[in-house]
Amino acid sequence: MANLNPLDITIQQLSQKGKGILAADESGATVGKRFAALGIESTEETRRAWRNLLITTPGINEFIAGVILFDETLHQNALDGTPFPKKLEQLGIVPGIKVDQGLTILPNTPDDQITQGLDKLGERLADYFSKGARFAKWRAVYSISDHTPSQLAIDTNAEVLARYAALCQQNKIVPIVEPEVLLDGEHSIDQCAVVSENVLHAVFHALHHHHVKLEHMILKPSMVISGKSCKQRANIDTVAKMTVTILRRTVPAAVPTINFLSGGQTPEEATAHLNAMHTLNVTLPWNLSYSYARALQDYAMKTWAGKSANIHAAQEAFYRRARLNSLAARGEYNATMEKENLVA
Ligand code: 13P
Repeated sequence: MANLNPLDITIQQLSQKGKGILAADESGATVGKRFAALGIESTEETRRAWRNLLITTPGINEFIAGVILFDETLHQNALDGTPFPKKLEQLGIVPGIKVDQGLTILPNTPDDQITQGLDKLGERLADYFSKGARFAKWRAVYSISDHTPSQLAIDTNAEVLARYAALCQQNKIVPIVEPEVLLDGEHSIDQCAVVSENVLHAVFHALHHHHVKLEHMILKPSMVISGKSCKQRANIDTVAKMTVTILRRTVPAAVPTINFLSGGQTPEEATAHLNAMHTLNVTLPWNLSYSYARALQDYAMKTWAGKSANIHAAQEAFYRRARLNSLAARGEYNATMEKENLVA
């Protein structure tokens, strides 16, 4: 192992068949919103308790290969006093870190957003590596409307994603490249397919231009899916077929793993869609798995509701959802399992 490049070790760990990535990197503001909806107070301590609950769920490392942390969590200790990155390492789970610094309007576009955080990113990545992080995440967003996303937003976000990815690799950190086409809106699945294809094409063009090594990256895309408010939403098989079609057109086989975001789909939808992609009888040149936040956490968070008496039940809910997604990542899930008792 001594001569293996750290990027090789990390990508091997993160692309294991049947395992996915837990996104637990919500910013303070985002966790605050999720907690508030359930009447949970958001403090440094309650956020620490929540992340501790997830990470220490017994047996979770069977289904979760990596966890993306927010800066606050990376610097906190688990409840047993071990720093979270160390705790994850002990469990055989790779610690990751969200490094983008959120969204702002891209000037001279109709209504598009660009992701911030490139300033001093190299120094921040070196510091995160020294604290145990071995992979990172950067999210770009694209919303579909009559006038968005503009070509300028597609090209600029691609350029920024590629610069981030190159800096990560230079610092021995595997980049998760996350271009998210948002679910909000009335658009059809066909419109989502056109936008997703353009976005992914631009992203891989820019990655090539910046000499990013595709063997050492993870793509985290949204699925090709009808808008949330679309009057006639496409069914599970259509989402699976169109998503795989667009990914096969745009994502080189050198990319080891694609891990979807859930993007506001229900937990059951996110699992069923992933499973259906594995049962299409189409060759998938990459590992195809999950990197969900809401679709993995929602039921567990509701069950917990901020009360220590509910920790065990919440961990069972989290374990269950992770296990169902692990089955889906092998094409072995079916909807009847939603009613079965799947606890370890
Ligand atoms: P969701 O699965 O809730 O969309 O979150 C994934 C993520 O990491 C967004 O950046």
